[in-house]
Amino acid sequence: MQVVATGVELRELLMEYGGVAGRRVLVPTMGALHHGHLELVKRAREAAGPAGSVVVSIFVNPIQFDRSDDLEAYPRPMASDLEQCRAAGVDVVFAPDAGAMYFSDRSVTVSESLLSRGLCGAARPGHFDGVCTVVLKLFLLSGCHAAVFGEKDFQQLAVIRRMVRDLDVPVEILACPTVRESDGLAMSSRNARLTDKQRADAPRIHRALTDAMKLGGVADILAAARAGIEASPLARIDYLELVDAETLQPVTTLTRPAVLAAAVFYGDVRLIDHVAVK
Ligand code: PAF
Repeated sequence: MQVVATGVELRELLMEYGGVAGRRVLVPTMGALHHGHLELVKRAREAAGPAGSVVVSIFVNPIQFDRSDDLEAYPRPMASDLEQCRAAGVDVVFAPDAGAMYFSDRSVTVSESLLSRGLCGAARPGHFDGVCTVVLKLFLLSGCHAAVFGEKDFQQLAVIRRMVRDLDVPVEILACPTVRESDGLAMSSRNARLTDKQRADAPRIHRALTDAMKLGGVADILAAARAGIEASPLARIDYLELVDAETLQPVTTLTRPAVLAAAVFYGDVRLIDHVAVK
């Protein structure tokens, strides 16, 4: 496995690596890798095939954070991340620092203006501009043919698919189902920052969403999910919404596939989860 820290090094390495014949598949991450990320790597390996290569990027992207305390607190266990990548058979890790990714006077941003407006976009202004900008840069730097994302961040996935569609980006977007702990908590790098008490309580998010979606009307679903989460004094809802699965706009009736989505704070740790409502 090779580890590079600049775009120039990455390009040079990939020119040699597997030539131009192999399919190159990128797994963009912010590090603090867990089993969910390893599932993305597995999917990337399948998609790359024996002649192809798997590139994992590890970059805590400062321009997608709306709070500096959140950026500073984001875990960065680089040695263990590299070890996990090596064990998972990753070919190349791209681990730049912010200086290698952004000019200090950068003035171009990629901005999606519809799907990114609500949910996490409303709660974290500028977040999806930061995501789109870094993801497009990672696509260009790696010259990847395909890239793998987790369905846990379903709004991110929808926004990236839209960016790829609207800008004719020649990268196939592959998605992997959310990976959960045995108690139902969606795996996330942020889970490591929960106290023992918060960690024990956090599976209630998924439980509340799953139980609520069995009900009939929109108001009942939202009320039941809210009650299930707010039954804990540790949990504070950032948003709880029922949105159309395609447009991500809030729904008032259930005539089309929808998604019940929540962001919940435990202390200063913000967790997101969602369930599909058929
Ligand atoms: O999902 C993430 O970890 C990040 O948003 C991504 C896609 C790596 C961009 O920084």
